[in-house]
Amino acid sequence: MYTQALDLPDPQQAQEAPASPADAAGAQAQFDAKIDAERKIEPRDWMPEAYRRTLLRQISQHAHSEIVGMLPEGNWISRAPSLKRKAILLAKVQDEGGHGLYLYSAAETLGTSRDQMVEALHSGKAKYSSIFNYPTLSWADVGMIGWLVDGAAIMNQVPICRCSYGPYARAMIRICKEESFHQRQGFESLMVQMQGTPAQRAMVQDAANRWWWPVLAMFGPPDADSPNSAQGMRWGIKRISNDALRQKFVDATVPQAKILGVTLPDPELQWNEERQQHDYGAIAWDEFWAVVNGNGPCNKERLATRVKAHEDGQWVRDAALAHARKQQARALKEAA
Ligand SMILES: [Fe+2]
Ligand SMILES: [Fe+2]
Repeated sequence: MYTQALDLPDPQQAQEAPASPADAAGAQAQFDAKIDAERKIEPRDWMPEAYRRTLLRQISQHAHSEIVGMLPEGNWISRAPSLKRKAILLAKVQDEGGHGLYLYSAAETLGTSRDQMVEALHSGKAKYSSIFNYPTLSWADVGMIGWLVDGAAIMNQVPICRCSYGPYARAMIRICKEESFHQRQGFESLMVQMQGTPAQRAMVQDAANRWWWPVLAMFGPPDADSPNSAQGMRWGIKRISNDALRQKFVDATVPQAKILGVTLPDPELQWNEERQQHDYGAIAWDEFWAVVNGNGPCNKERLATRVKAHEDGQWVRDAALAHARKQQARALKEAA
């Protein structure tokens, strides 16, 4: 999954002056020409330091979001209502783990090790998508994450397939195909629940009431409050603005909600004939920033679970390293 909310600036990094060495004027001109021609920038190409840092921040935040995003749904694997639903959910959560791994690899090409990125996440320095700090209270929440959260992720991520940085763009192509399955399985699960008992329908409606607004906030701050957007567009990292993506998502989701029979919890949500788009109500940005800054309902729990999983996995990493060393020693012996 997940989004520009992914590219929230790191205040520490933002203070550093973007350095473009004077003797790199030729390299800068070459870089600019490549961007203008829509050619990909590859890891060995010269790139401005600010471009490298922006991408590293965005890709690592994206990787962290995939990994932390496994937690709210992972909670439900042992409680899925049937073997079929359990198999689907297992596959989906495993996909998210895979997305995290591709993205860490893409970020590593920018010169930061995975250990450093994981450390930044675990110490609370690095951000991940705010949406995963909300709880999954019922089985309907699992379907809602697929339908709305993965649906929002697709809106955000399809344009990243055209990102100017080659490794990120290529990773996103496969990720988007898998996100599409995630969105559909969520919608289908909710459809079945909506054809069930009144209590099941009420459970789905309750989940929609809780997820709708946090999902709209996932697209990140309004364009007017996103001062770095223009630079991201110039560099071919960001292709469509936060507000434009949010609007596309609302317009795509309203008819789906109708098919499901779910009411989206916004009395101001209505079709605007003149704009040929939906109008929608005001987003509670104070809540968004509170969650981003560590004060959402599950921030502490998510991070603690993640750190514990990493510590519990230490023996696996040790064993894999010991095995690799043994194999290397054997190969050297055979070559001698
Ligand atoms: Fe994903
Ligand atoms: Fe997903």
